Formats: sequence, C-alpha cells, structure tokens
Amino acid sequence: MSVLVTGGAGYIGSHVVRLLQERGEEVVVVDDLSNGRTQRVGDARVLQLDLATDAAHPALVSAFAEHGVEAVVHFAARKQVGESVQQPARYWSQNVGGTANLLQAMADGGVGKLVFSSSAATYGAPATDVVREDGPAEPINPYGQTKLVGEWMARAAGVAWGLRSASLRYFNVAGAGWDDLGDTAVMNLIPIVFEALDAGRAPVVFGGDYPTPDGSAIRDYVHVLDLAQAHLAALDHLAADERPHDVFNVGSGSGSSVLEVLAVVREVTGVDVEPEVRERRAGDPPRLVADVSRISETLGWSTTKDLRDIVDSAWRARKA
Ligand code: WQD
Repeated sequence: MSVLVTGGAGYIGSHVVRLLQERGEEVVVVDDLSNGRTQRVGDARVLQLDLATDAAHPALVSAFAEHGVEAVVHFAARKQVGESVQQPARYWSQNVGGTANLLQAMADGGVGKLVFSSSAATYGAPATDVVREDGPAEPINPYGQTKLVGEWMARAAGVAWGLRSASLRYFNVAGAGWDDLGDTAVMNLIPIVFEALDAGRAPVVFGGDYPTPDGSAIRDYVHVLDLAQAHLAALDHLAADERPHDVFNVGSGSGSSVLEVLAVVREVTGVDVEPEVRERRAGDPPRLVADVSRISETLGWSTTKDLRDIVDSAWRARKA
C-alpha cells in the first residue's frame, strides 16, 4: 500500500511514517516544514507544501497519481491551544482550510481512505469522569473547534462521495518511540518539566485545588508509539470495513494527576525539586480521561506502555 502522510515530518507523524516503513509500505510525506524535520522520515519522499494554499490541490492530485496513493493520514495542522485563542482566523484557515483542500484533492484524485488527527480538545470541559465518543463534544477553544469541524468534513465527504475515514481523538501524547523522534517542542507538561529541571528551576503545577484526590488536574497520558500503532490499526480497519466514518478516543483509559506525573519524573531523572503550586491555568478542565471501549472493541487496539515508559522514553530522547 502507498500512504501519503501530511505532517509526516512532525513529532507524531514521523512515528507513523517509521512504523509504515517498517511494515514495508511506500510513504509519501507532505509537510510545510514549519515544525517538521526531513531527517525524521528516512527515505520517504518529502513534498514541501502548505495545505492551506492554492498550490495544494494540484500538487496533491499529482502526488496521488504519481505514487499510486491509496490512503492518507492527515496530521498537518497548527496545534497550540493558547495560540488558537489569540489567532483564531489562522487556525480556521490552516486547519479547516488545509483539510478542505486535502479532501477536495482526495475526491478528485480518487483516494478514498483517510485517518484524521483529531483531539480530546473536541470535548471541551466535560462533566463526566470518562468521555465517550457519543457524548457531547463542546470544544472551548478554536483549536478544538477546528478539529471537530475536521471530523465533520470527513463525515460529509463520506456522504458526498464515499470517503471512508477514522478520526482519532488523541489524549495527552508524550514519550518517544525512537530517540531521534522525541518531541522537540516545549509545549506540554512533560517537556516543560524537563526544561525546568535542566535549567534548575522548580516545575510549576497549575492548580492545587481541583476536586481530585491530590488537588492537581488529571489527564490521560498515551505513549506516542502506542498512538502511532492506533493509526496502523485504523488504516487496516478502513481497508477491511465498509463503514463510512468513525471517531475513536486514543488514550489509556486511566488518568494521572500532575503531581503523579511529577513523581514519575523524579524517579526517572533522579532530580528531586519541590514543585511550585500556582493558580489554575485558564481553560483547563479538572479531569479529562478517555473511555477506550470503542477503539479496543472495533480496532483491537489498546495501550502497551504506561506512564513510566512515557517519561522514561521522553527523557532518554531528550538526553540523546
Ligand atoms: C497537562 C496538565 C496543565 C504545564 C493540551 C491540549 C490538547 C492536546 C494536548 C493537542 C494540565 C498541567 C502543564 C505546566 C502544569 N493537544 N501543567 N504545569 O492542556 O491537557 O492538553 O495538549 O491535541 O488538546 O489542550 O496538556 O501538557 O499543557 O497540560 O501543571 O508547566 O499539566 O495545567 O493540567 P493539556 P498540557
């Protein structure tokens, strides 16, 4: 099978590219290289392209034909929640506009299978302990809105011209499957804590008064390699199944608090710094944990790695 991976030179995308290559598939990467790095994708062909531009449609249609592309995995997007609040139009144009161009090119190029990177940010601040795909999706920032719209667009393309798609709602992704594919951005809890420790600063805990057992916020952490495997499971499902569109949570199904993450970081790094507990960060839900029954029952996927593996692999990649 030949697979085109948008955003394939990024942190998560490059893990999927490598797994596909290990399986012997031909991979074509489309990336604007704003955050992506070509050295992450091995010998995959790289097409440097911003999906939100007018050049995208013709370039994609010819890449589909040239490489006999049968399926697309679509990562390419802006992904910072705070930035999306400051610059909503940029998020609409990049994430929604880019996806619209991609879907039109797939329709015109006859590529009928899509795995779409969605996010737990589509849920907003849920009222339930675990979130299910058929529960309310009420995103509270433009980033989450663009991901929910992306899911709708994929679904609509299924109705309009028969696209078969799976949207994967990622929970808190961290870790590294290979030392050279670690997350180089310092935007999420674990990399931020590492950065603080290396600089000799105390890690900051946003909120110590949440209605949780230790007062810090709870998230569902998933190892990037497990997450990448979920994409291969979704591709196999689309090749075998007739359903037009499905949404799947991709998480571990269990939550860890910020303080629990910090305890694991202390174990792994051997650095013991007392954290500084500050005010809650605006817009943070107290608890966001996946119900993972749909993905385990439908795709046969579940996590194989725990929080210790996540922190340990992230730390090794950082030090490599
Ligand atoms: C995790 C927890 C923070 C930094 C975001 C997006 C989500 C998805 C993943 C893309 C929170 C706390 C953090 C720090 C802290 N992204 N924290 N001290 O906000 O759960 O999810 O990234 O799809 O859509 O919203 O991730 O890593 O920022 O925070 O206490 O220095 O750690 O408040 O409770 P978040 P995060």
